[in-house]
Amino acid sequence: ALITLRQLLDHAAEQGYGVPAFNINNMEQGLAIMNAAAKCDAPVIMQASRGARSYAGDIMLKHMIQALSEMYPDIPICMHQDHGNNEQTCLSAIKHGFTSVMMDGSLEADMKTPASWDYNVEITERVARMAHWVGASVEGELGVLGSLETGEAAEEDGSGAVGKLSEDQLLTDPDEALDFVKLTKVDALAIACGTSHGAYKFSSKPTGETLAISQIEKIHAKIPNVHLVMHGSSSVPQYLQDLINEYGGEMPQTYGVPVEEIERGIKSGVRKVNIDTDNRMAITGQFRKVAQEKPSEFDPRKFTIPAMEEMEKLCLDRFQRFGTAGNA
Ligand code: G3H
Ligand code: 13P
Ligand code: NA
Ligand code: ZN
Repeated sequence: ALITLRQLLDHAAEQGYGVPAFNINNMEQGLAIMNAAAKCDAPVIMQASRGARSYAGDIMLKHMIQALSEMYPDIPICMHQDHGNNEQTCLSAIKHGFTSVMMDGSLEADMKTPASWDYNVEITERVARMAHWVGASVEGELGVLGSLETGEAAEEDGSGAVGKLSEDQLLTDPDEALDFVKLTKVDALAIACGTSHGAYKFSSKPTGETLAISQIEKIHAKIPNVHLVMHGSSSVPQYLQDLINEYGGEMPQTYGVPVEEIERGIKSGVRKVNIDTDNRMAITGQFRKVAQEKPSEFDPRKFTIPAMEEMEKLCLDRFQRFGTAGNA
């Protein structure tokens, strides 16, 4: 059955677990997530970016969600809009069956310019009011994701469009978080703590200087009843970098967010953990392996089956380590 983010995260807070939010663009990712969840009895958050919606189409996504919930009747699913940038994106998602939306007002609607406090509060409050009228949940974001090493907001496309940020933009302030949640009435709050989107988060294994889990602890101490969200939470595991590079890929050595640091976050109020890059790497690694090992192969299922298995393995591991398993 479909459930809202609020329903799921209230339960997660009660029981002290976290929920991975995996991005979905196609049927194969949907099946991999649901197979993993069914294996360990975990509730699911699937999220679609604006890019995913234009890739698959709203009608396709709507029916895919319905199909997956029919195929797995015992697994609760929250369908969430990832990084909505205005009212229209959020409301049209709800209209197409999403039960939750992120209004990301940390950036202006162009998603390239850090937003003012007033802009973020006003647009997030408006979206929360409208979403709550129709029973959907809302995630807001305070603080801008980006690297504490370089001060860059590392966009996935490496465009550098957001430019240099100061440390107080890159770390969410606990007092501001309290005011922001009071004013906007969001159901969950995404915070900035040194993570960034994509594969290139840290140039060496992160330390307390570059990945500020301690900031999450400070925020949690200030707003213990608010469900916190960690974006940019791929671990970029070495075995997937190796898989890609062993089969002709050229990914420079990089470091993601260690799973044990996420586990520490979950002890301090993190309830939703956004993961996309790891699953992209799992899929692409297996595509490369099949392409190189079986150059005569041209049945796409021979590529997608091992890709789904690799992704399922990763999803299952996160369900288990975050304590989601057993809570469906
Ligand atoms: O927030 C970023 C997610 O990884 C989605 O990425 O916009 O390329 O679909 P995307
Ligand atoms: P990653 O790029 O670390 O997977 O983060 C995904 C994310 O935050 C989606 O909103
Ligand atoms: Na989101
Ligand atoms: Zn994100």
